[in-house]
Amino acid sequence: MTQLDLIRALPKAELHVHIEGTFEPELMFAIAQRNQIEIAYQSVEEVRQAYNFHNLQSFLDIYYAGAKVLILEQDFYDLAWAYFEKCAEDNVVHTEMFFDPQTHTERGIAFATVLNGLKRACDDAKTKLGISSHLIMCFLRHLSEEAAFKTLEQALPYKDQIIGVGLDSSEVGHPPEKFARVFAKAREAGFLIVAHAGEEGPADYVWQALDMLKVNRIDHGVRSEEDPELMQRLIRDKMPLTVCPLSNLKLCVVDDMREHNIRRLLQQGVKVTVNSDDPSYFGGYMNDNFIAITQALDLTADELKQLAINSFEASFISDTEKQMWIAKIQAL
Ligand code: HPA
Ligand code: ZN
Repeated sequence: MTQLDLIRALPKAELHVHIEGTFEPELMFAIAQRNQIEIAYQSVEEVRQAYNFHNLQSFLDIYYAGAKVLILEQDFYDLAWAYFEKCAEDNVVHTEMFFDPQTHTERGIAFATVLNGLKRACDDAKTKLGISSHLIMCFLRHLSEEAAFKTLEQALPYKDQIIGVGLDSSEVGHPPEKFARVFAKAREAGFLIVAHAGEEGPADYVWQALDMLKVNRIDHGVRSEEDPELMQRLIRDKMPLTVCPLSNLKLCVVDDMREHNIRRLLQQGVKVTVNSDDPSYFGGYMNDNFIAITQALDLTADELKQLAINSFEASFISDTEKQMWIAKIQAL
């Protein structure tokens, strides 16, 4: 089997994808039109041309602008359904998707509108495509602690539909410790915990996510390599990192894919996984990310299998389900 065939054949779990970041320009135009909302671009080509980022913030500005056309429950359904169809193409059999309620509630969209649309797509993905999923709600870290507390309150009635809480948006200047009290309350309420850390921010933010937020996984975390003591901690605790190679390239976290550290992290025993982050904006979905690192870093078949195994081990599915998928990978 070629590497490409193996990538396609591997069952995979996606653990780091922002549903608002899967918004393809074609769907954005269609939804804008039916909601009679003006967008700043004349055509799909013009939108894609705007996707030239030099750092995280230059992306976030465009990402939040695009999300403004999402108004109705059906819009959120259509957004998530389009992503599930990509999962089916890429043999992503389980996904744990982030959503950013504050991006919508700040515009006057009800929390329930967002959640009900996404949840209905998740239910349909299970019955029609056989894809399982969990929802993870992220707090926008550029907003206040108070706003995050308010969002947590809004989520409590939907506790059984949201497996965890996360932390995203502009990292530098908004360290995890800013949200330590909100995450303590979320843990008490029974949510699992993840946080973006060590994407643009320093290794110290990863320490804070571990020790102050008490995360179950770190999102990105690629800058952990700058701190050998932190590396030992991640390896000892089998702490997963949800790495997003094409995202790192597009946002200039790395200058060239051949310089990406995912293979070194894997070889040192860090539980790294491959993910797409915001695939509509960064040039590809799950398999595109696998292909990009395989070509740039000469990954072996065993390494590809280990990355797929890690994705299930690091997921929030049951041990029985994990074992089932891992056995299928080992049989390839
Ligand atoms: N980092 C931080 N916030 C985000 C990202 C990311 O990669 N994608 C969407 N929101
Ligand atoms: Zn992300």
